[in-house]
Amino acid sequence: MSLLTIHPESGTSAPEIIREGDAIAARLAEIGVLFERWQAGRAFEPDAEQQTILAAYADSVERLKAKYGFESADVISVGPDHPQKDELRARFLREHTHGDFEVRFFVEGRGLFYLHPGDRVYAILCERGDLLSVPSNTRHWFDMGAEPCLKCIRLFTTAEGWVADFTGSDIGDRFPRLEDYLKHYA
Ligand SMILES: [Fe+2]
Repeated sequence: MSLLTIHPESGTSAPEIIREGDAIAARLAEIGVLFERWQAGRAFEPDAEQQTILAAYADSVERLKAKYGFESADVISVGPDHPQKDELRARFLREHTHGDFEVRFFVEGRGLFYLHPGDRVYAILCERGDLLSVPSNTRHWFDMGAEPCLKCIRLFTTAEGWVADFTGSDIGDRFPRLEDYLKHYA
């Protein structure tokens, strides 16, 4: 189940927990974050090629391209046998911003986004069928877990927009990693 928890940035007191999809979308809309649940327009195999996956979600992808001016889309896949999984995990765990906004749709698997727009931290556990945007210049980090399993559609405007500006903060260390988060809240 998708899940939103809203924490003080100190990470010290109990978060507010929101489990229902429409309520998650409404609370995230307050901070300019898009959260949607998509249905595939047609069935595809678990090992389907990128083009097959993009075709299955073509209606939703085209709608977002038209609305936000995205020029391209691709599919990334990280599994537990990925040779650089530890490096990738460590890089995304450091708080950063982008000049462009980031959009991820979870075709398979799960991942934990932490958004830090003001003095609160929004943790969003994304699972299959979830779309989440990270607004431009919003501090965030991401945990794919020690044994990653995710397949995501990414939407792009410009390649340059994806350069990560790291804030240098260690705030990510004060919040639960994916495994602990699942134990506590899921
Ligand atoms: Fe990012």
